[in-house]
Amino acid sequence: MGQLQGKVALITGAGRGQGLAAARRFAAEGARIVVNDLEPQSVKTAVESLRAAGGEAVEAVGDVSVSLDVRRVLTIAKDTFGGLDILYNNAGIGYSATKRFGVAMSDVVSCTEEDWRRILDINIGGVFLFCKYGIPLLIERGGGVILNTASIAALRGGADAHAYTATKGAVLALTRAIAVTYGSKGVRANTLCPGVIDTEMIHEALIERDDVRTALARNTPLRRIGTAEDIAEVALFLVSDASRFITGEEFAVDGGLIQRV
Ligand SMILES: NC(=O)c1ccc[n+]([C@@H]2O[C@H](COP(=O)([O-])OP(=O)(O)OC[C@H]3O[C@@H](n4cnc5c(N)ncnc54)[C@H](O)[C@@H]3O)[C@@H](O)[C@H]2O)c1
Repeated sequence: MGQLQGKVALITGAGRGQGLAAARRFAAEGARIVVNDLEPQSVKTAVESLRAAGGEAVEAVGDVSVSLDVRRVLTIAKDTFGGLDILYNNAGIGYSATKRFGVAMSDVVSCTEEDWRRILDINIGGVFLFCKYGIPLLIERGGGVILNTASIAALRGGADAHAYTATKGAVLALTRAIAVTYGSKGVRANTLCPGVIDTEMIHEALIERDDVRTALARNTPLRRIGTAEDIAEVALFLVSDASRFITGEEFAVDGGLIQRV
């Protein structure tokens, strides 16, 4: 029997990247997946591929920063699979947002007020909305698991992407508080802090250039850039019963990058 047999797992931003890799990994362990993303086509393709691999999945298109969308996505989970056991708040915008949404990942002086608000709305606002409306569903089932995605940017200072960094720090703090408040109701909550991971989010800005890619790998104690599958393995541990006595914790998955002086 799979480690997540019969569980219902909602993953935000699961149309590609780390969210999609986790959807595949969780489905392989028997979870039924609610696939959320902003992009309808990526949601459709993800659900088709999960089903083709023998899994159960449902489309749940929506913007994590829009309350109505969030509530609709949670209703889809309830109507299709009867409730919610695992809430993985993975969606976020980072470096790729400059090309996709015109949002710059700059330092605090250069950051426009509009960009600041947009990044906060998605990266921490989305976590707020899904927790606000999702935790009651977890409690309804006698408890459940929340996994939130921050970044190593929340653990160390960086030269740019200051709004992004602030949102990831807020994700860490909110997750700890949620763990304390809802532990007695059977809800666990932990944070993943990915390092440099080979997804579209950082392709153009960081790893498309061979020299930058090589330098990043050389700087990492384990001598490579991470993959979405590296993250999915840790995510599986944190949403499964294997981590049943862990809550309020943060896990850097970065090949040792932040341990360097
Ligand atoms: N890739 C990295 O190096 C890295 C490092 C640290 C943290 N992270 C974090 O990991 C998470 C996953 O990122 P990824 O690397 O898979 O990047 P990605 O850009 O490949 O995937 C992010 C997904 O989120 C979706 N999304 C964006 N805004 C949304 C919204 N408002 N509503 C719903 N979906 C939305 C996108 O459409 C996309 O499918 C993010 O929270 C990111 O900040 C990534």
